[in-house]
Amino acid sequence: MSEKRGNWASKLGFILAAAGSAVGLGNIWKFPYVTGRNGGGLFVMVYLVCVVLVGLPIMMAEVLLGRATQASPVVAFRKLAGGRSPWVATGWMGVAAGFMILSFYSVVAGWTLMYIYLSLTGELVAKSADDINNLFGALVSNPGASLGCHAMFMAVTVAVVAGGVQTGIERTARVLMPALLISLLLLLGYSMTLDGFGAAMTFIFSPRVDNFSAVAVLEAMGQAFFSLSLGMGAMLTYGSYLDRDTGIVKASLWVALLDTAIAIISGSVIFPIVFSNNLPAAGGKGLVFKSLPIAFSNLPAGQFLSVVFFTLLAFAALTSTISLQEVVTSSFIDLYGWGRRKVALASGLVIFLVGVPSALSFGDGFFGKGLTGLTGRSFFDNMENLSSNWMLPLGGMIIALFVGWRVKEDERFEEFTRGTPWGGVYTAWLTLVRYVVPLGVALVLLYQVGILEMLGVGTINK
Ligand code: PHE
Repeated sequence: MSEKRGNWASKLGFILAAAGSAVGLGNIWKFPYVTGRNGGGLFVMVYLVCVVLVGLPIMMAEVLLGRATQASPVVAFRKLAGGRSPWVATGWMGVAAGFMILSFYSVVAGWTLMYIYLSLTGELVAKSADDINNLFGALVSNPGASLGCHAMFMAVTVAVVAGGVQTGIERTARVLMPALLISLLLLLGYSMTLDGFGAAMTFIFSPRVDNFSAVAVLEAMGQAFFSLSLGMGAMLTYGSYLDRDTGIVKASLWVALLDTAIAIISGSVIFPIVFSNNLPAAGGKGLVFKSLPIAFSNLPAGQFLSVVFFTLLAFAALTSTISLQEVVTSSFIDLYGWGRRKVALASGLVIFLVGVPSALSFGDGFFGKGLTGLTGRSFFDNMENLSSNWMLPLGGMIIALFVGWRVKEDERFEEFTRGTPWGGVYTAWLTLVRYVVPLGVALVLLYQVGILEMLGVGTINK
């Protein structure tokens, strides 16, 4: 039984859904904490360079592949390269990345559910910074709470994806995006009144080399891929629901712009709170969860704002988990003709199970401290690092190579320019996709595995 493929109701629908995929925990939770860990300004600069020179061209390439083939990643490569071509493996790597990312992402998304609950009961507001700090530690290391919330978040994700694409996603994103932006701007207003605002701005925007290491380049690039939802077929899949006559250039620009703006605003909200309360900038995964409740404790109607904010954050996470689950689900539907509900449920269950060790990574148990003794990282950190810093950039690089070199010139030109008044940027885009993206990503990855060092090229401290 093959079901009719979904379609976006409008071009705005696509932009909203794609922005919904891009904007999520990556912007509000991850961007501030990796920025803090990597010393601030210079990291942010490298990140922005990665977004413009690497992320944006790949986004256009992915949407182009999806729109051209009207298919999910694996089938898209099969259609264009032939069923037995090695290019098809890129599609499968994307599906694998979907499983991995969603498995730990849903754990953090689960934390937002805990925070909604704690805001409602009043346990989170009007507390001292110390109490808030301890509360976070206690919550995430509580196996029952973290597994339960992880399960709840996966259940909701599966339910939306089982119901089909456009009904859920488009409508949610249409309300969510503006609301999220407004609430972040309100919080920004608060952060601007804090003593630490100046120090925070210097931290985020002035590039200094201290605390910056070569690993930071990998993390900046990985963060760009992760935040823009690139390299694993999410944008390809969403592009496949796009009308073949809708232009891809401006839509991609909007998505990247919105995503980057929200990340920068989040950092500008969080770091003033961090500095004003003498919290460590490299405070790790709890940074957002420890700093924002301090703001809510000091604001009038703080409890209300706290409920609203964490609810919005949960929805922002949901529009991202939906896109991850959709890559996996639509791939199996397209490949084997299985029913949407069955695929969503079965894959969601597997993803939940893969996520269990990640949910248990924050206590003293084996997957947290125990595994740290073995691999230097918790299970959660290994999943996060492997998927976003390695699989996504690798996937994105192959997509760029495929679109830049393998797709025929006349087809590529036609697909890129159809439906857009911005076709004039074709040559610039092609240059990025052919040379800049593959070389840039290859250099960063080769450096990380030590090959450039062996050749005596890289000498920056790791
Ligand atoms: N971009 C999403 C976020 O920032 C995460 C994501 C990554 C979603 C990859 C889909 C694909 O939260």
